[in-house]
Amino acid sequence: MSEQDRKRWDERYLNDPGGAEPTPILERYWPLAPMGRAVDIACGNGRNSFFLAEKGFMVDAVDISTVATERLVGRHPNIRVHCQDLDSWTIPAEHYSLVLNVRFLDRRLFPMILNGLKPGGVLIFEAFIGREKADYCLEPNELRRAFSDLRIVYYEEKRLARRHADRFEQTASLVAIKGDG
Ligand SMILES: C[S@@+](CC[C@H](N)C(=O)[O-])C[C@H]1O[C@@H](n2cnc3c(N)ncnc32)[C@H](O)[C@@H]1O
Repeated sequence: MSEQDRKRWDERYLNDPGGAEPTPILERYWPLAPMGRAVDIACGNGRNSFFLAEKGFMVDAVDISTVATERLVGRHPNIRVHCQDLDSWTIPAEHYSLVLNVRFLDRRLFPMILNGLKPGGVLIFEAFIGREKADYCLEPNELRRAFSDLRIVYYEEKRLARRHADRFEQTASLVAIKGDG
């Protein structure tokens, strides 16, 4: 299954390298995170990893696509690239000041994301809500429930433009902070 994912995404990146602009929720909320280590889960072409590296974070950029990760290697001294299947990735405990997860969903990672944040660390998570229940998309309010142990500073569900809306209906966006005690 994951080998198929890799091929599919490699083909996609060969045909379309994707944009360089960081995602707006990151541009807006990154200053809440204490400076330190960040992880960009399913980093793709690294647009968000690069943004964080420029701000001074040491970034672990993780993605299954060989094409995308090879292009990212050597682009910034603060980025450590991991060509990895996230199905078998583990997040060390209390390790990251910032965890970023954009347009990717693996529920297996949820407890590790919670645990992997340092006290005071920030989670920025944005993913799609599906038209129907499916493994690859969220349900309404699911993100808010999954990370209710954190202090949620922003949560929004937004309807997608029609051209994206064959499988997906909305995006869910969450910004949350791990308590200090
Ligand atoms: C829609 S892209 C989002 C990329 C990036 N987060 C962004 O916002 O630009 C989804 C990414 O998930 C990666 N991906 C899919 N399945 C994966 C897996 N099992 N392990 C690691 N990465 C995976 C793909 O290679 C792709 O880069």
